[in-house]
Order: sequence, then structure tokens, then C-alpha cells
Amino acid sequence: MDRKIRLLKDWARESSNIVFFGGAGVSTESGIPDFRSTDGIYHQQYDYPPEEILSHTFFLRNPGEFFRFYRAKMLCLDAKPNAAHRKLAQWEQEGKLKAIVTQNIDGLHQAAGSKKVFELHGSVLRNTCMRCGRFYDAQSILRSEGVPHCDCGGIIKPDVVLYEEGLDQRTLQGAVDVIADADMLIVGGTSLAVYPAAGLVDFYTGNRLVLINRDETPLDGRADLVLHGKIGEIMAQL
Ligand code: APR
Repeated sequence: MDRKIRLLKDWARESSNIVFFGGAGVSTESGIPDFRSTDGIYHQQYDYPPEEILSHTFFLRNPGEFFRFYRAKMLCLDAKPNAAHRKLAQWEQEGKLKAIVTQNIDGLHQAAGSKKVFELHGSVLRNTCMRCGRFYDAQSILRSEGVPHCDCGGIIKPDVVLYEEGLDQRTLQGAVDVIADADMLIVGGTSLAVYPAAGLVDFYTGNRLVLINRDETPLDGRADLVLHGKIGEIMAQL
């Protein structure tokens, strides 16, 4: 691993257009469980499969159950950025990293100081009334009971991409553009199990494709450098 860390440090020092593409594994060291690890959200017992609860159909048909799950499992507002978030923000301030593309909805990259963040699956920090479009913050969802309603009577929906919903096209195009232009792409903390997010890696055309993940992923065979371990611990050494 030390040889790989040294190589990653060298590549990072030589690069001025790094893009980071990440997933839930970037936030587990901040105390937020991921989805598909053995202790992840998708392996815990609920009345319905979590992927069903986090779907557009379920949200419309069973909003009470949706929000019970959402408040319990998706709202981790006390979580703080970890060494991975901080290193990426530092590289952006140094002009080395151009953007972060994340599947996470926890806002921890911005909390660490990152400015250019493409949130492919939205953010729990933004919530909108489905009737009048009024904005509500995450605390108002956490503090509310049952199905949160706007003063106008409409249901307040989190700005989180649910299954069956499309991604924001401008966010997706922005992510494609920065990845296609990157001289180094670091993919970290994601199982690359969900599309179209996972397909974004295909737009990278350089020869410094780095994978930092605790478990193996479908990308292992294609990456130019693979580090298996905890991403916060690894990034803290760079
Ligand atoms: N360091 C490095 N890797 C880690 C760490 C860590 N500390 N903790 C977990 N991992 C790895 C796991 O090994 C796993 O491969 O992170 C990956 C997390 O994978 P998933 O749980 O599938 O999360 P993610 O890839 O972000 O899921 C994508 O699926 O359900 C949807 O919308 C949801 O955005 C999510 C998408």
C-alpha cells in the first residue's frame, strides 16, 4: 500500500485538473452508513425493501412511511466532514482539483469547503413544496412530524433523486464535461452499482484513473491505480 500511496501522491502533485467521483463510502467515516456494505442501509430489516421506500411511486402512495424511513436513515445532520472531504477541499483551494461529482446527498463536501460539487442525486439540505415551490431547509423536515406540509398545504419534498426519477440534466452534463476534461480521475467510496452515475467513469479519457474503495468494484480491472482501504485514512496521507 505504501508504494501505491507514494505513487498517488506523485500523481496528485503533478496534476492540475483532478476530478473526484464519489459515493456513500466517502461519508462512512463521518458516521453515515452506506447502502450496500454488510452494515449498510440496504441490508437492514424494514417492512419494505429500502430501494422500494426510496422510490417515486412509494413517496406518492405512502408518504408517511417514506418520511419515517427518511428521517431515521437519510437525515444525518450531525455528521461532520472527514479527512477525505477535507483533502479534496484543500486540493480545490490549491487549484489542483477542478470539481467533485458525488452521489451523496449529505452536503459534507460543501461543509468541508468544496465549492464546485455536482450532486448527481440531490441534497437533503434542499426541500421544496410540491404546490408553491417554497424552499425549506433540512432542519424543518427533521423537526416536523409525519408528512411535512407547507403553509400553503402542499407536501414538502426533499431535493433527493428517488428511484424512478431522472437526474437533473444540467448537473449530469456538467459532471460529464469535467470528467471528460480531467487529467486525473479519482473514483472513491462507491460500489459503481447505480446508473447513470456509474457510467460517468466512461467519459474519462486520461491514463490516471485511480480507484480508492474498501471493497472490490467493477472498475478494479480498468483502473490505472487501485487502493483498497478506508478512503479517509488514505486521503489523510496525501
Ligand atoms: N473507505 C473506502 N470505501 C468505503 C468506505 C470507506 N471508509 N466505506 C464504505 N466503502 C465502500 C464500500 O466498500 C462500497 O463499495 O463504499 C462503497 C459504497 O457503495 P454503496 O453502498 O453502493 O454506495 P454508493 O455507491 O454511493 O451507491 C450509489 O445507490 O441507492 C443508491 O442513491 C443511492 O447514491 C446511492 C447510489
